[in-house]
Amino acid sequence: MTNRHWTRRDLLKAIGASTAGIALDRSALGEVVGRPLGVPLGRTAVPAEKPITAIVAGAGNRGNVYSSYAQKFPSELTIVGVAEPIPFRRGRFSKKYAIPEQHQYRTWEQIFEVPKFADAVIITTPDALHYGPAMAALSMGYDLILEKAIAQTWEQCTDIMRLARQKERIVAICHVLRYAPFFRKMKETAGSGALGRMISIQLIEPVEHIHMSHSFVRGNWRNTAESNPMLLSKSCHDLDLLLWLTARHCRRIASFGSLTWFRKENAPPGSTARCSDGCAVEAHCPYSALTIYYRKRGWLHHMDLPEEGDQGPAILENLQKGPYGRCVYRSDNDVVDHQVVMMDFEDDITASFSMEAHTSYGGRRIRIMFANGDVTGDENTLTVSNFTTGETARWNVLEHADVSSGHGGGDFGLVSDFLQAVRERKPELLPTTIENSMESHLMGFRAEDARAKGTVVDMGSVT
Ligand SMILES: NC(=O)c1ccc[n+]([C@@H]2O[C@H](COP(=O)([O-])OP(=O)(O)OC[C@H]3O[C@@H](n4cnc5c(N)ncnc54)[C@H](O)[C@@H]3O)[C@@H](O)[C@H]2O)c1
Repeated sequence: MTNRHWTRRDLLKAIGASTAGIALDRSALGEVVGRPLGVPLGRTAVPAEKPITAIVAGAGNRGNVYSSYAQKFPSELTIVGVAEPIPFRRGRFSKKYAIPEQHQYRTWEQIFEVPKFADAVIITTPDALHYGPAMAALSMGYDLILEKAIAQTWEQCTDIMRLARQKERIVAICHVLRYAPFFRKMKETAGSGALGRMISIQLIEPVEHIHMSHSFVRGNWRNTAESNPMLLSKSCHDLDLLLWLTARHCRRIASFGSLTWFRKENAPPGSTARCSDGCAVEAHCPYSALTIYYRKRGWLHHMDLPEEGDQGPAILENLQKGPYGRCVYRSDNDVVDHQVVMMDFEDDITASFSMEAHTSYGGRRIRIMFANGDVTGDENTLTVSNFTTGETARWNVLEHADVSSGHGGGDFGLVSDFLQAVRERKPELLPTTIENSMESHLMGFRAEDARAKGTVVDMGSVT
């Protein structure tokens, strides 16, 4: 797509709706499932008179994802500053967005040592570096895109929300799945009343074993103190989806789980500290770093590799010295590799959630049970069944939506809505403001309390 604003028609197309409707049988259920997905927030898509300007704190993976919106839609967003300690990343990013030298910073603190020079800050630093830049940016009057998890403690999250309120700033939390066409369709179907009252939800997140090893055993989210517990760093999306889909407050929560497999005592005989140290089982190990990163060239997005020529030598050097070459049984990880959460929502809706590392597949599986039928889905296909009439309808996101921007199309949806909300000074255009995102974060913190104490925890209130 070229430089232009998203019209309502584009949005409908992007979220899977054809203005002519979706070809399904014309049964009652077909009507619900086949109904074009409206823009859920009633947004008016006011054209941008001039682009919103933003500074990026943390030019890593997510910082580049959100910024690429400016490349696609330059009339809506201009990136005017960056803070990034890794010179290679800072240089590459600055070049891409033509950032003047005086606005290329080494660390986030430096952004706030000079007078405000943009509308917004996009905070995509590691989890442990969200609180500092968020508080500093709000104090100076910036609006924010703030990556999840909001911060590392409930108190920090509350501080950020209060300061945002006090300064009347718009803060978008990156619960990007709320923008993904698949989940939007699921939400619309669940909320339609076509199957009667909601009874319960079952959600599983199969993280997939290689993804687990990359992010939560070897990588950035392996250690609670350095990032967050798994429920906040990964599964805050899932808790947020459950809250959003039920549209009820959570009353009580319980959780069990542990780090069972990726531990030193499970290291196979003959294995070594790094896969490249002559490990005796490397050739057959499912977690061989040499296979994942070097032979198959997967999961390379957190390595700084030369953009031209053979990347092989740089990958091997990374595996010999960097975090991704470590044996998965000998890392300094402490986050769980399996966890269940049980939730009691208002109106007696129950929900269960499982985070599973040990799967050969990824992609959330979800089942919602209603008085008269059920909705099941796998992030691609939604199947809606009414067992009182025998009707069934199906909807496949790939047939209807542009899901190319990441998180099933959710990444650009969030940026688009944030820019619209900032332009119009209307936080209500954004379904993932900090206010909307606090309760699911509280669920994560409370579930971790419940897991640690082995009890059922009352949720209390979010103020
Ligand atoms: N919404 C989602 O679905 C989603 C997905 C992945 C990651 N995340 C979150 O996004 C954030 C970033 O994750 P990522 O995958 O981009 O990680 P990343 O490591 O690729 O990027 C983080 C960047 O921050 C930089 N940084 C470190 N210290 C800094 C400092 N003092 N000042 C400025 N920059 C600094 C790092 O050098 C790095 O380039 C994390 O909080 C993560 O949990 C969210």
